Amino acid sequence: MKRIAVLTSGGDAPGMNAAIRAVVRAANYNHIEVYGAERGYAGLIEGELQMLSRRSVSDIIQRGGTILKTARSAEFTTYEGRKKAVEALSVRGIGGLVVIGGDGSLRGANELYNEFGVKTIGVPGTIDNDLGYTDRTIGFDTAVNTALSAINNLRDTMSSHDRVVIVQVMGRHCGSIALHAGLAGGAEVILVPEKPVDYDDVAAILNRGKAVGKTSGIVMLAEGAAPLDEVMRELKDRTGLSFRTTVLGYIQRGGSPTMEDRVLASRLAVRAVDLLRADKGGRVVGVKGGEVIDLPISEALQIPPRFDSDLFEQAKMLSL
Ligand code: F6P
Repeated sequence: MKRIAVLTSGGDAPGMNAAIRAVVRAANYNHIEVYGAERGYAGLIEGELQMLSRRSVSDIIQRGGTILKTARSAEFTTYEGRKKAVEALSVRGIGGLVVIGGDGSLRGANELYNEFGVKTIGVPGTIDNDLGYTDRTIGFDTAVNTALSAINNLRDTMSSHDRVVIVQVMGRHCGSIALHAGLAGGAEVILVPEKPVDYDDVAAILNRGKAVGKTSGIVMLAEGAAPLDEVMRELKDRTGLSFRTTVLGYIQRGGSPTMEDRVLASRLAVRAVDLLRADKGGRVVGVKGGEVIDLPISEALQIPPRFDSDLFEQAKMLSL
C-alpha cells in the first residue's frame, strides 16, 4: 500500500491531533503517503482531501480539537453517499483509510469495508470511553482531568458558602466521566445512567453528612442519568440544603491532551498503520490490560460498553 487517508469523525476528543500526527509520521516513515479528509465522512464524500506531510503535522500533538475538523454526515448513512466516499479514495489511488472516532464512526468504517472492500482501520476517539472492546478511548483521560479540575474549584467555593453543587458532566449513555472524576474529586454522590437514581438514597447520604457537620458537597451527575433541574428539586425538598448547579458542557471536549491521551493516541495510530501495511482492513485498534490489540470492527462493536460497577461501589463507600 503506497497511499492511505485519515479522517476524524463524530464528536471531537483531545488527542485526535496526536493520532493524526502519528498516522502521518508512521506512514511516511514506511514510505506511505497520507491524505487527510476534512470534516469526516462529509468531506470525504466531497473529495476534500489534502496531502499531509511530516511537517504539516508539526506542533499539533499538544492541541485539542482536530486539525482535520469533524462532522456528522447524513449523506454517509446512505449507500449512495458511501459510494461517493469510496470513489473519492479510488480516484486518488488511496488504498486504506484510518477513521478516528466513536461508535458511529467505526460503524461507518465497517460499512465501507463490508460493502466496498475498502481497507479501513478504526481508532477509538471519544471522551465518553463507551466502547466495550477497549479499556480506554482517546480523549477520556483529558476530559476526566478537566472535570476534576473544575470540581476542585467548585469545592473551594461550595465549602466557603456551605453549599452543595450538582455538577453535570457529559455522558448521555455512559457514566464513566462522572464516575472517574467523581471518585478522584471526592464527590459525595455520583449519578450515572447505568444505575437507577434513587432520590431517597441520595438525600439520606447528604442528610447523614449534614448530621455529622458536613455543610457542603459535590453531586456528580452524568447528563444521561437524570435531568439536572429534577435532581436539584428532589434533593432540595428532601434535605433543605442550599444547592447550586454547574454544567461543564463542551469545556470537557477541548483542551490540551494529557500525557495518557497523547501516548495512547500515538500507540494506537502506529498499530493502525502497521495493519494497513499488512494489507488488513475492517479492524479496530484498542488497548486491553495495557497492551495494544486489534480485532474485526464487527466483533468489537458487539461488545457492550463496560461500566465499572466495582469502582462505583468503592466510590460510594469512600464518600461516606
Ligand atoms: O463526544 C460525546 C459527547 O460528548 C456526549 O457525551 C455528548 O452528549 C455529546 O457528545 C454531545 O455532542 P454534540 O453536541 O457534538 O452532538
